[in-house]
Amino acid sequence: MDAKEIISKLTLMEKAALLSGKNEWESRDIPRLGINSISFSDGPHGLRRQEGAGDHLGLNASLPATCFPTAATVANSWDESLGQEIGAALGEEALAQNVDVLLGPGLNMKRSPLCGRNFEYFSEDPILAGKMAASYVRGIQSRHIYACPKHFAVNSREYRRMAMNAVVDERTLREIYLTAFEIAVKEGGAKTIMSAYNEVNGSYANENKHLLVDILRNEWGFDGIVVTDWGASNDHVEGVKCQSNVEMPNPGLDSARELISAVTKGEGRITEEEIDRAILPIIEAAIYFKDNDHTKGFDIEAHHAIARKAAIQSAVLLKNDEDILPLKKGTKVCLKGPFVDKPRYQGSGSSQVNSTKVETIRQQISSYDLTVVDSPDKADVVLFFFGLDEIAESEGADRMSIDVPEYQIKELEELTVYNKHIVGVMSAGSSVKMPWIDKLQGLLHGYLTGQAGASALLDIITGQEVPTGKLSESYPYAYSDCSVVNYSDQDKRNLQYREGPFIGYRYYDTADVAVLFPFGYGLSYTSFEYSDLNVSDKGVTFTISNTGKRDGAEIAQLYVGKKESGLIRPKKELKGFKKVWIKAGESVNVEIPFDDKTFRYFSTVSGKWEIEGGEYQIYVGASSLDIKLSGSITKEGTISELPYNLDDLPSYKTGKVRNVHYEEFEKLYARPLPEEKVGDLDINDALCQMKDAKSGICRLVYKILKNNLDKSYEKGVPDLNTMFIYNMPFRAISKMSGGMVSRQMVESIVTIANGHFFKGLGGVITGFFKNKSANKKYESRLYHRE
Ligand code: BGC
Repeated sequence: MDAKEIISKLTLMEKAALLSGKNEWESRDIPRLGINSISFSDGPHGLRRQEGAGDHLGLNASLPATCFPTAATVANSWDESLGQEIGAALGEEALAQNVDVLLGPGLNMKRSPLCGRNFEYFSEDPILAGKMAASYVRGIQSRHIYACPKHFAVNSREYRRMAMNAVVDERTLREIYLTAFEIAVKEGGAKTIMSAYNEVNGSYANENKHLLVDILRNEWGFDGIVVTDWGASNDHVEGVKCQSNVEMPNPGLDSARELISAVTKGEGRITEEEIDRAILPIIEAAIYFKDNDHTKGFDIEAHHAIARKAAIQSAVLLKNDEDILPLKKGTKVCLKGPFVDKPRYQGSGSSQVNSTKVETIRQQISSYDLTVVDSPDKADVVLFFFGLDEIAESEGADRMSIDVPEYQIKELEELTVYNKHIVGVMSAGSSVKMPWIDKLQGLLHGYLTGQAGASALLDIITGQEVPTGKLSESYPYAYSDCSVVNYSDQDKRNLQYREGPFIGYRYYDTADVAVLFPFGYGLSYTSFEYSDLNVSDKGVTFTISNTGKRDGAEIAQLYVGKKESGLIRPKKELKGFKKVWIKAGESVNVEIPFDDKTFRYFSTVSGKWEIEGGEYQIYVGASSLDIKLSGSITKEGTISELPYNLDDLPSYKTGKVRNVHYEEFEKLYARPLPEEKVGDLDINDALCQMKDAKSGICRLVYKILKNNLDKSYEKGVPDLNTMFIYNMPFRAISKMSGGMVSRQMVESIVTIANGHFFKGLGGVITGFFKNKSANKKYESRLYHRE
């Protein structure tokens, strides 16, 4: 039977049930028609497959899997073939562990260095993020598994992530926040997409017609499954109408009942045809996965080796004064810092992997030709392993600062008393401030290396391997230098993206703000020269020569700018890149083609991608600030009408966007900005808003949550469940409770929070019994027990 035939045999009850999850990780099955559940699992850099009882953030351990370096790390390799190899290994592990859809990669834009999940995302640049994400998708899907790029879209912070509205102008939305997803869908061929928790311009991502229907389905031609982030569904009927397919995890059958009543009770909100359309990709997927062979296992050692290779090719050498690295054979080293015995190699939250094994520096060092001494004054070189603690980077919470913890810097300062030859080896999944960098002679940044990080880093330190990574994000001197510094509005629902397109290097470069390390920066043990740029209609060609003594790899970057323009524009933007391996003394010809994204901009006049006519500057660089070659090309325009008069947008014209006024942003936004809601709590307010609730009980619940949160910060270990609950809206109680709580009950809980205790309690009690009996009745009819 094909999918359409199966759909014709389903009852409305079965159809409605198929559109939400059966348990934490599976969609519903319909055994009478041979439709199996689809099984979902995190995660983006290693499987987090829970056997037995699943829980959202992994209190129950998951099956052992390879922990690869995180996305933020692998992005520094700028190597799509590496991404594809990791993806294929992830796909193999998914297959071995009975998983159909792997919930990754994560590719939200790094708008601010404070986002707690930056370690899971690729870059501040959409082209780099999109190309890397597409490579993972191709790899994962080559193993007959669906990849699921997430979180679509504009989910660039953790604080109140389920109860916030990203307010972003249309052109910035398209060019910065959606382009990476577009590449993952169109070039990667992603078969699943996860809709984000937040609202985008006033409607939840999962019921956002503009995002899901106009753009994802109609413009990009996506024909796969849209799955909600866990607990992200708000109005299920609206979601299904917008062609979102599966609400996860398990809202009980309340959501299914909502759908049925929307079809049958004359509400006219949705038709059965619309439901059929939403079911189609689910049935197609169930058929596609049906014959997957889950008996083969995977090669633990081979995958460990891929993790090691990925960590080597992604590490970035940031400083190397007097060529302190690589260390010569027999160098006397002293190992210091918190991560010598306890590596920090992955982040916290839903992406956390139960690794098949984890290397440590202490164990691995004996395999290298170095002499380890105990005291720093007896060493030739001190290797200082440091970086961000676990609590600093986690799903569910944003970072409080971009500082490395004080206790580590104190240790570093003490070491300088005994030895001036210190090489820092850093672990952190996002950018940090480095006022202490002068205390180091060398700095190797491993990011979050995955389980094989220790040997990978030692390979580079000892020169068995050359460093080849370059930064996929900028390193500002301080957080106050970032374009978004005044736009974090922690306590408001509406988060205005007033900086427009100017995030990361697009801002620093255009507004002339100095950075410590620019986007695209990284050193090598060899050196390169660029020459012979040729610009044609097809793209650029040029030559790179390895002028040093070692074989190595260079990452060449193509940027495009337009000095004379009627549009808001960053000085230049990345449009392509290539990592090339070159033997010492040799040269290679490099070609970076132009594509449909090289000259395009999104016109809010035509509602389409257009090209502005005139001369464009073409730059080839070793980083965003180290331009080696430049040329130009003239393009014919596709439209002459411009969306605004640039003189009305002075901050955007210069890129100096740190203090944009409300009125200026409103002009860019081109419609009235949303007002903050005032008054009583409602089901879409976050639980942390109970702080000022009328009900004393709710204020007490808030205090308990806050207390638990503070304690976890004191301990330095993230309490994931508390973080999740603290930021989630009341509505999510019904979405995350496995059918125990209905929406009606949640509404009654909110009534209690607003000070009407007895009325609310009555609603909760009657709602409980009503929901229980309705669920039971539905279950037995669904599985034909009555
Ligand atoms: C995260 C997703 C993850 C899902 C399932 C959510 O909290 O945002 O990235 O895939 O949980 O664990």
